[in-house]
Amino acid sequence: MKYYGVFGNPITHSKSPLIHSLFAEQTGQAISYEPLLAPLDGFRETATQFFINGSGANVTVPFKEQAFALVDQLSERAQRAKAVNTLKKLADGSLLGDNTDGAGLVNDLLNNQVVLAGKKILILGAGGAVRGVLEPLLAQGPAEVCIVNRTVEKAEQLACEFADLGHMTAAGYDWLDAPVDIIINGTSASLSGELPPLADTLVKAGHTLCYDMMYGKYTTVFNQWAQAQGAARTLDGLGMLVEQAAEAFYVWTGVRPNPTPVLEQLRAQL
Ligand code: ATR
Repeated sequence: MKYYGVFGNPITHSKSPLIHSLFAEQTGQAISYEPLLAPLDGFRETATQFFINGSGANVTVPFKEQAFALVDQLSERAQRAKAVNTLKKLADGSLLGDNTDGAGLVNDLLNNQVVLAGKKILILGAGGAVRGVLEPLLAQGPAEVCIVNRTVEKAEQLACEFADLGHMTAAGYDWLDAPVDIIINGTSASLSGELPPLADTLVKAGHTLCYDMMYGKYTTVFNQWAQAQGAARTLDGLGMLVEQAAEAFYVWTGVRPNPTPVLEQLRAQL
């Protein structure tokens, strides 16, 4: 038996234990996966203790930056994200930090037959959630990724930092009104049921695809707005959640689970 888990605070409502136990069952891996509550000032101690026997863990709010600081080695994508959501104990006992959030988003888009290459993409927000997905997104070869943020300086800073990976631009909400191919909401606005101040003309009816990294039982406020503008399609972040878990499972075990039935089960339980 190998031991895995997810660190967070709070952690009781995490869907990761269910997702990973379904992956383990599906692929015949003998693993245990538990929620791991770390005290707000005690992540390092709790993680160190866990890895005496543990093989790997996910990391969620508010410990992704602390996990980044804890590890011995970083993957390229974690280095770029400046955050770690996946920890793996290597054969020599050292800890590898990886970040599967961006692969989760991209794989979910690709599963939904969304083409990213050559597309003009707006990404809303310039916080940790957006930083975490930029490297895998740019690797798909979009024509342009424009970071839109209330605080424009933060968008400009991120655009600069990732400019070596693709055509990056930055803007404020009131700078933009021309229609785009894809809009991805990576702001925390949905948490409080708010909508970023977007021009309705950004959505071209029957063409633009909108993706909200948030999800819920009901259509998110951003996706409601997108549908009202006639967006060709709206997707929410439940697929990204399952896909980032599938990528972590692959990093740990070398086996790629099938996320589709797991996503269906989660959707039914929302
Ligand atoms: P996370 O780790 O979830 O990305 P964060 O780093 O606090 O959280 O970033 C939150 C992002 O959501 C920021 O880009 C924030 O914009 P500002 O940088 O201008 O604060 C954005 N955001 C939060 N509430 C918003 C709202 N109501 N409208 C537009 N953007 C919002």
